[in-house]
Amino acid sequence: MSIAIVGAQWGDEGKGKVVDLYSAQSDLIVRYQGGNNAGHTLVVNGKKTVLHLIPSGILHPGKLCLIANGVVFDPTVFFEEVDSLLASGALKDAPTAIKVSERAHVILPYHCLLDKLREQHAAGGKAQIGTTGRGIGPAYEDKVARRGIQVIDLLRPELLRQKLQVAIEEKNILFKHHFQAPAIEFAALYAECLKLGERLRPFIADVRAVLQAALAQGKKILFEGAQGTLLDIDHGTYPYVTSSSTCSGGALTGTGVGLSNPIRVVGITKAYTTRVGTGPFPSEIEHTEKETAERIRKIGQEFGATTGRSRRVGWLDLVALRYAVEVNGMSGLALMKSDCLSGLKEIRVCTAYRLGDQTLTTWPSCSEDLERVTPVYETLPGWEIFDTSKVRSVSDLPSTLQSYIHYLEKALKVPVILMSVGPGREETLLLSDPYSTKS
Ligand code: GDP
Ligand code: IMO
Ligand code: MG
Repeated sequence: MSIAIVGAQWGDEGKGKVVDLYSAQSDLIVRYQGGNNAGHTLVVNGKKTVLHLIPSGILHPGKLCLIANGVVFDPTVFFEEVDSLLASGALKDAPTAIKVSERAHVILPYHCLLDKLREQHAAGGKAQIGTTGRGIGPAYEDKVARRGIQVIDLLRPELLRQKLQVAIEEKNILFKHHFQAPAIEFAALYAECLKLGERLRPFIADVRAVLQAALAQGKKILFEGAQGTLLDIDHGTYPYVTSSSTCSGGALTGTGVGLSNPIRVVGITKAYTTRVGTGPFPSEIEHTEKETAERIRKIGQEFGATTGRSRRVGWLDLVALRYAVEVNGMSGLALMKSDCLSGLKEIRVCTAYRLGDQTLTTWPSCSEDLERVTPVYETLPGWEIFDTSKVRSVSDLPSTLQSYIHYLEKALKVPVILMSVGPGREETLLLSDPYSTKS
């Protein structure tokens, strides 16, 4: 049995915290998509660690952390993260604890440059996505266009030379003529790639084969999703999405495990909603309930773990969550950050959308429609501020929060199997064992 952790909203739901918690019961932890656009926060014994690329199981000694083929991999960021974990003493023998897929595609400086130039060019207009500027989109474009550089290529000087020459030639035309930016120098980049390849050598593995062997031995695999359902390239609010398959399906293509292996999907959701970057957000309250938005942002520390940007805040959206339950095939939900709504007299939940004279209860396919909908809300009683350190079971939670949990379970037809009431590892109620959740 394996578990996939997926974001049920627009990212930053608290996936890192849940992966860290479930890692205790897992043998292997694997990132299957995205790259260092992710920022996954773990708070252990009061110490905060933000991971962008290395799986969130890394603080558990003895577990194997894998970066699989579906990830776009920036080697420079990877080594910064490895070095920082080694320096803090959290990691001892890095190449034993972490393996990187031969097939993962490499993010190179020209991808980051292209990402940033495109965003600058589009600034203020409809084409601006508000990306993280980490080169994610351009790296996936090269992968799909069949001109990407894979991790294994870094160990093959001749192949790398040919591929890099082709890639740079085309990029330089764009840089020089479309963006009026300086061209990329081949020689320096080639030398840097070879150097990075040598340092990466002990980490490189056939990750798919490692996973297959682990499955054959009955080991427990935890798939760590990045971003969230509504940022999925196919199922999200296109074009205001990231460039990978963030939903549970991405765990299959992103690792190469077959469909015959049972995977339980746990969706992570906040008790409200946030979004970073541009794009539709029907239950956003930035302009309609400014003070409440500010209050939640302050208590929830809703500032990007990767870029530091202020996250847009809104109420929980059940139309979006029902969709996320379906698209991912979720069998359980982790409900995060209910503590950040404490002290509000009333909270609201979006149950449907109005579009012209229609009422929609299902997710519209077109972002243009989503921009135009107005949310239909149900108002529920809030809960008082409670001492999260004293919570040992659901019955210790304020009664209106208990009712909120039941309300969500009924509306979404999925059990809440984890309740998080603070950033710390210990501020959590593990309501049932994810590996034995009934689907
Ligand atoms: P991820 O990208 O899904 O891993 O989420 P992020 O790490 O980007 O953002 C979640 C933020 O909320 C982090 O700062 C966490 O430490 C914090 N967090 C997680 N769960 C809770 C919770 O239940 N309550 C509070 N107050 N903070 C939480
Ligand atoms: P985690 O894993 C929240 C958003 C960006 C932008 C869009 C495209 O921490 O939940 P990209 O750089 O991927 O091309 O940007 O996706 N985005 C995220 N938002 N959390 C993330 O990751 C995100 N990763 C990308 O803000 O809107
Ligand atoms: Mg994040």
